Amino acid sequence: MTAAVAPDADKDHSADKIAARGLKGVVAADTTICDVDGELGKLIYRGYNIHELATQSTFEETAYLLFKGELPNDAQLADFNRQLVHHRQVEPQVLDFLRSLPKDTPPMTALRSAVSMSAAYDPIAEDESPAANFEKSIRLTAEMTTIVAAIRRLSAGLEPVAPRSDLSHAGNFMYMLNGTAPSADAEKAMDLILILHAEHGLNASTFAARVIAATLSDLYSAITGAIGALKGPLHGGANTEVLKTLFEIGSVENVVPWVDAVRAKKGKFMGFGHAVYQVEDPRAVHLKELSRRLGIETGDSKLYDISIAMEQAVKASIKKNCNVDFYSASLQHYMGIPGDMFTCVFAASRIVGWCAHVLEQVSDNKIIRPSSNYIGAPERNYKAIGTR
Ligand SMILES: CC(C)(COP(=O)(O)OP(=O)(O)OC[C@H]1O[C@@H](n2cnc3c(N)ncnc32)[C@H](O)[C@@H]1OP(=O)(O)O)[C@@H](O)C(=O)NCCC(=O)NCCS
Repeated sequence: MTAAVAPDADKDHSADKIAARGLKGVVAADTTICDVDGELGKLIYRGYNIHELATQSTFEETAYLLFKGELPNDAQLADFNRQLVHHRQVEPQVLDFLRSLPKDTPPMTALRSAVSMSAAYDPIAEDESPAANFEKSIRLTAEMTTIVAAIRRLSAGLEPVAPRSDLSHAGNFMYMLNGTAPSADAEKAMDLILILHAEHGLNASTFAARVIAATLSDLYSAITGAIGALKGPLHGGANTEVLKTLFEIGSVENVVPWVDAVRAKKGKFMGFGHAVYQVEDPRAVHLKELSRRLGIETGDSKLYDISIAMEQAVKASIKKNCNVDFYSASLQHYMGIPGDMFTCVFAASRIVGWCAHVLEQVSDNKIIRPSSNYIGAPERNYKAIGTR
């Protein structure tokens, strides 16, 4: 066992030497893509409030806006849609790879590996020109839904469903997940989920993507790294944990005792708290309302009712609001999406934000290389192995 080493007395170990734990509050980039105002609870994509986009836009339009900076006109949108549809098919080798994975492979592990593998089949994977990076961004946005749907089908023992070209991005995604064309409500619900999760500033996975892109590595590497970051339960993995929690609680009556017990153990409430928002997460408002509606439509509002009770109990207990992941859990459950796929659905949306940030990073690149404050052993002499 190694003996604990006293910190170097001459070093400055004061807290102000460290800019901020976890870089919280540190401004690490200028961006024109998204503004997250944590105090006012505002989320703005390229100048447009998320509430307007959620109620008036579509995923395709929003993706174009995030990539290009402006909403598309009719011709631009038609061309963008054509390209998205064109890229819906994935290489058969990628599907064969997914078929070859052990049955219990976590969906995000399968997604991360499949996206990484896709680079090998993209003839412009290593082309770092702005035009090529834009084309790859469209290709990845389209392919992600096909890969995610294939992972879902294969994990259920079913064959992947080939994409259709006559459906919207959200409608085709639902079609490939379930094998049947979705109702107008289900298509709209998925469209909204995709819009709301598409971008959120310099969150952990987007920062990871920018760090990778800033080394002038390729877009696929940046996205593969971002998927790895999103997988963690403190980030995109939270929604899967929320569903487990709701099932564990099981009834509205059990909510308060359950919350008290977690609080007593100083446990974490998944789907609550946020690194930026001090007030209600503006995305949660829309997901909550949709969850309420789909709960009624499916004739089983139990998970929604438990969610409402839990939101109140956690807020009373730790003064934290719910975040985007909380109501997305019951909502996706009502849409027939299994809990272990939630983070993959998140990734199929956030791919847009990741790509937009990579495009922005490489357009004015500076390698991202922060410093660390060394608090380890003082300089010392090497000891021969027999003397340690
Ligand atoms: C999102 C999150 C990582 C933000 O962390 P943060 O920036 O450190 O947030 P805060 O500064 O407000 O947290 C300070 C303290 O509040 C408490 N706290 C914050 N969120 C909490 C939660 N969901 N449950 C219980 N306590 C919480 C903790 O004591 C935390 O300290 P810790 O990180 O050392 O445990 C955190 O709120 C969290 O872990 N939430 C649950 C996971 C989740 O829903 N993630 C999805 C985010 S969209």
